[in-house]
Amino acid sequence: MDKYIINGGRRLYGEVEISGAKNAAVAIIPAALMVDGVCRIENMPQISDTDMLMSIISAFGAQIKVIDRTTVEIDCRSVHNCDAPFEKMRRIRASYYLIGAMLGRFGKAKTTMPGGCNFGVRPIDQHIKGMVAMGAKVEVKNGFVYADAHEGRLHGARIYLDKVSVGATINIMIAAAMAKGKTIIENAAREPHIVDVANFLNSMGADVRGAGTDTIKVNGVERLHGGTYSIIPDQIEAGTYMMAVAATGGEVRINNIIPKHLECISAKLVEMGVEVQELEDALVIRREGPLRPTNVKTLPYPGFPTDMQPQISTALCFAEGTSFVTEGVWDNRYKYVNELRKMGANIEVSGRTAVIEGVPCLTGAPVAACDLRAGAAMVIAGLCARGVTEVEDVHFIERGYEDFVGKLMQLGADISVRRDPEEPERIQLVVV
Ligand code: EPU
Repeated sequence: MDKYIINGGRRLYGEVEISGAKNAAVAIIPAALMVDGVCRIENMPQISDTDMLMSIISAFGAQIKVIDRTTVEIDCRSVHNCDAPFEKMRRIRASYYLIGAMLGRFGKAKTTMPGGCNFGVRPIDQHIKGMVAMGAKVEVKNGFVYADAHEGRLHGARIYLDKVSVGATINIMIAAAMAKGKTIIENAAREPHIVDVANFLNSMGADVRGAGTDTIKVNGVERLHGGTYSIIPDQIEAGTYMMAVAATGGEVRINNIIPKHLECISAKLVEMGVEVQELEDALVIRREGPLRPTNVKTLPYPGFPTDMQPQISTALCFAEGTSFVTEGVWDNRYKYVNELRKMGANIEVSGRTAVIEGVPCLTGAPVAACDLRAGAAMVIAGLCARGVTEVEDVHFIERGYEDFVGKLMQLGADISVRRDPEEPERIQLVVV
């Protein structure tokens, strides 16, 4: 299988460009299915999750034109509601957005239950609750989701989410964009990518208000038209490089970011003794002295993101003292701890809390990327460790980090990829 080989012990220096936000892109691509015109999307990250989603919608008949490295044009005018490529849908979490988009466009949808990284039970009951409130009949049977809108079109509804859910908030917002009447989502999630998807929909003619607060109001429209939209920078990719510099030491300027989205991560780094200098659309991260321990609890935005939990836990392995990290979103997001222990980390997990005793150094070892962010954490550990670390299962990392190895090499890391000729090729975009 494909591996990353890391010779640890080098500090990181230089500049890195952050790509477009994965978790916005994976919603915007399905949402483009509803648009009656050409969507030109800029700042599209080149990662396997977006390639996979574009390959799924092209199987529906979407015409996808790759304009340059980060710009695509998606034309869904000739899309028909055919049987979807279920095997591909099963491999990706964000395929749940196809439910909202297909219901919005065709009044019915058939998808698989979503796949994605495995960190405990990942229900979609809140997505279904929203679709049902908007008049869909939804049935989950044998791993498939069947949804049918009464008389072919959803209607507006008032929906209170029992759990703050990024996926359910976005999915309901997408479906409501073309429903008849007004939808109100209460207890909505507030992540930056929710605002981004709302902005995308609005730039195509939707009427979505309040995204970024806990109440979102959507006035359904008859039609969405084409347009141009640029995806926001990826908060978690930026945070991952911030944490990498904190762990290795050095000085890196992180470009193409929105500092506001990174405030909770910057605040933790400052507590850890890392210097963070804020510029207009960049941050400079500098660490010369020792790392200090801190306590972290992951929460929905604006709290500390769960998608940064493995990376900060890894950096805290090098702090001088004891840190407590509590996972407040997922039931089981500590599988990577066993991998870190192979490298000499001193971490005990009890329920949702990890107790991390800092150690002077880790030692390189063969480790696996258990999921996307855990994989990034293994790379950070490898960058700091003495000796060679081989990270397996890097297909998880490549789902969400554009050119991780290339960007780290540019910062002076000694990291390379060993491709396995037997490993299936990454899905390539269909260029029309
Ligand atoms: N939940 C429910 N019912 C639902 C939906 C969610 O109980 O119908 C629960 C979940 O079990 C979890 C919590 O609510 O305990 C939050 O889940 P959420 O729906 O917010 O997560 P998601 O939409 O499945 C997205 C990101 C994840 C990120 C979470 C939380 C995408 C494609 N995925 O997942 O990103 O961890 O929000 O911020 O947007 C990643 O990028 O590595 C990643 C896993």
